[in-house]
Amino acid sequence: MHLIAPSILSADFARLGEEITSVIKAGADWIHFDVMDNHYVPNLTIGPDIARAIKPYCVNDSGTAIPLDVHLMVKPVDSLAELFAKAGADSITFHPDAEIHVDRSLQAIRDLGCKAGLVFNPATPLDQLRYVIDKVDIVLLMSVNPGFGGQSFIPSTLDKIAEARRLIDESGRDIRLQVDGGVKIENIADVAAAGADTFVAGSAIFNADDYSSVIREMRGRITARVNG
Ligand code: DX5
Ligand code: ZN
Repeated sequence: MHLIAPSILSADFARLGEEITSVIKAGADWIHFDVMDNHYVPNLTIGPDIARAIKPYCVNDSGTAIPLDVHLMVKPVDSLAELFAKAGADSITFHPDAEIHVDRSLQAIRDLGCKAGLVFNPATPLDQLRYVIDKVDIVLLMSVNPGFGGQSFIPSTLDKIAEARRLIDESGRDIRLQVDGGVKIENIADVAAAGADTFVAGSAIFNADDYSSVIREMRGRITARVNG
């Protein structure tokens, strides 16, 4: 199943709860929450207290919880991962180059009751994934250099998506393949065709007037390509 995960990085932070409610009504499957520390990446965003504050908004009209997907662009990882788990994160992804003992960090996130994931920057090879794939629930491929919303999709990501898809399929495990950065209506079909199943989109959704028409169009393009 293909999932759309709007990144609230491009939402109106002065009205965050309302923005989350609107994007869930518009069809969001997950809420993607970008954490930047002005150290691992050159920007500073939101912390565990904001995650805790918005958690009650992560629910749809029928009362079903919408997962809060925390993407940590921080170094080191472990202490903050624990704070986000306690604040209500459902999944926590981190960059393996930001923590020394990656296997231990993945296990620690799972022990806290969250799904755990590894994030690979555009120039970071997938090597480490092979050795810890049994502890990974999400593989997140960055299709921009992390730190800012609104950048352009880096085309070489498409080959990397196919490579990650092969590794996941060979493992036979239930692992989401997520792509983050520059995903738009115009390129989402290519990203899906390469093998991704979970699509982060920030500016493409939150900079539009009508969130639901963007999400509907994204789903339409994915379905047309994947079934076509
Ligand atoms: C970038 C963040 C992304 C970002 C994507 O470092 O991880 O989640 O919000 O924004 P767009 O979709 O605008 O590229
Ligand atoms: Zn992100």
